[in-house]
Amino acid sequence: MARITMKWYPSFLILHALSLAILCASSAHPAYDDAPSFGVAVSTAGREAELVAVRREEYDGGRIIDISHYYRDDMPAWESAEGVGQFLRLLKSMDNGSLANFSEMMLPTHTGTHVDAPGHVFQHYFEAGFDVDTLDLEVLNGPALLVDVPRDKNITAEAMESLHIPRGVRRVLFRTLNTDKELMWKKEFDTSYVGFMKDGAQWLVDNTDIKFVGIDYLSIAAFDDLIPSHLVLLKKRDIIIVEGLKLENVQPGLYDLHCLPLRLRGAEGSPIRCILIK
Ligand SMILES: *[C@@H]1O[C@H](CO)[C@@H](O)[C@H](O)[C@H]1NC(C)=O
Ligand SMILES: *[C@@H]1O[C@H](CO)[C@@H](O)[C@H](O)[C@H]1NC(C)=O
Ligand SMILES: *[C@@H]1O[C@H](CO)[C@@H](O)[C@H](O)[C@H]1NC(C)=O
Repeated sequence: MARITMKWYPSFLILHALSLAILCASSAHPAYDDAPSFGVAVSTAGREAELVAVRREEYDGGRIIDISHYYRDDMPAWESAEGVGQFLRLLKSMDNGSLANFSEMMLPTHTGTHVDAPGHVFQHYFEAGFDVDTLDLEVLNGPALLVDVPRDKNITAEAMESLHIPRGVRRVLFRTLNTDKELMWKKEFDTSYVGFMKDGAQWLVDNTDIKFVGIDYLSIAAFDDLIPSHLVLLKKRDIIIVEGLKLENVQPGLYDLHCLPLRLRGAEGSPIRCILIK
């Protein structure tokens, strides 16, 4: 399974660490409250009690909606009862005397809210380099329709037809029973999730202009039609699949969609950040 490793560090901390190294290599770290003042931009954040990080699902009074799931240990993982597990760890810690905190991340590329590239299910596309870095940002960004699919079936041809998605609509987020069942919030992988059946995928290809297909669990395809539905959608390399979207608490309708995958060359999947703007 493809894995990615990312190292990151807030640039402000690096600058901070550098200026500290120049000013006073031996003193306590200025980012700690009890550090002496150097007359530079040392921490004036105050006592711990005031330091409450704000977590948001919406921004600007609800105009911008985050439809990505935050990554967490107990997020569902493909065919696993254990969830994603620990994927983030501190290599260096200020608590241990390091000048900065420095974490490492390791997780499957098809974790949480993520995108599939054509190389995911076609070996010749994989070998030819159709990875996530080749995905068209124009398809991943633009007007998108959020629709509720019938809750009593998978996304079959019949279900697709009943949605009456007009020609010309190029990006659709399919909200399903998966959202009602809060499947993305359950650690244990659930094979009964709703997704495209092969005939539903074929109907989409034959009868719509949809090039962006988004869904609210880990796979666009129902478990019973897993590979056939992926093959139908990715065959022509003109459709982009985004899975594991967080579509709760959003009204159906038209939005501006913005999705940005990581530029992971060689990877057939990538974590992706998606937002809707009203
Ligand atoms: C910090 O030090 C403690 C005690 O030696 C150790 O258990 C822990 O793993 C260290 N953490 C990091 C991030 O280095
Ligand atoms: C820095 O490390 C401490 C533990 O040593 C941890 O609580 C804190 O979240 C870390 N900060 C960042 C930005 O990783
Ligand atoms: C969708 O298909 C899965 C098998 O892939 C099945 O377990 C589930 O019951 C189906 N859902 C509905 C609503 O028919």
